[in-house]
Amino acid sequence: RIFSRASQASAVAAREIADLIRWKAGEGKRCVIGLATGSSPVGIYDELVRMHREEGLSFQNVVTFSLDEYFPMQPDELQSYVRFVHEHLIDHVDIDPANVHIPDGSLPKAEVQRYCQQYEQQIIDAGGIDIQILGISKTGHIGCNEPGSERTSRTRMITLDRVTRIDAASDFFGAENVPRHAITMGVATILEARRILLLAFGEGKATIIASTVEKPAMPSVPASFLQHHPNVEVLLDEAAATGL
Ligand code: GLP
Repeated sequence: RIFSRASQASAVAAREIADLIRWKAGEGKRCVIGLATGSSPVGIYDELVRMHREEGLSFQNVVTFSLDEYFPMQPDELQSYVRFVHEHLIDHVDIDPANVHIPDGSLPKAEVQRYCQQYEQQIIDAGGIDIQILGISKTGHIGCNEPGSERTSRTRMITLDRVTRIDAASDFFGAENVPRHAITMGVATILEARRILLLAFGEGKATIIASTVEKPAMPSVPASFLQHHPNVEVLLDEAAATGL
């Protein structure tokens, strides 16, 4: 779906998420949401916080699983995705902190593999992800599934692409300070979500969106595996849609 402004896309996505939260609450069920970082989903979080404040949207039945975290990364560091998710959403709504799951970038390396398996199990135990929010990088990564990530990949430690580290340089006061690794949900983990919303804005995303949507699905553009999902929507502004 192509919108004239990014804010319209964010509002549509937030409305869908809010409707799902309310419907699930009415059924006495939890609503499991997959959270993304980056600038693209910020408009959704702003809108959800507004709905919490002005419309009484409750997050008491909401469970969240974040896609990724840098490794190594302490939760209280400026660039941590723990901090990002708290600043943009969690700290402003009535969610139970026990229901918030974010990959732990502060673990000893030797424990990461087992931790990733536990993260997968936690998602299963929560009943699976009802709705997954995604951004996309210029490399075509979703979460931090960089080019080369297979359709069958699971939550794991990954080496970040050079382009991703250059893109993140301003957050870290120089590309050399960007961590070399991240923990990310896998492509297969993401594809198990029942509903997926991918948001991309600006002309910088036009080329990768064209490859994601129109080229055959392949590991060199991990986001292209979304073509295999039966219930995914790509929300773009006009600039991001110019390559289609
Ligand atoms: C980071 C995140 C991705 C995000 C990407 C694009 O690499 N790990 O999940 O999609 O940035 O960010 P933006 O939305 O700011 O373009």
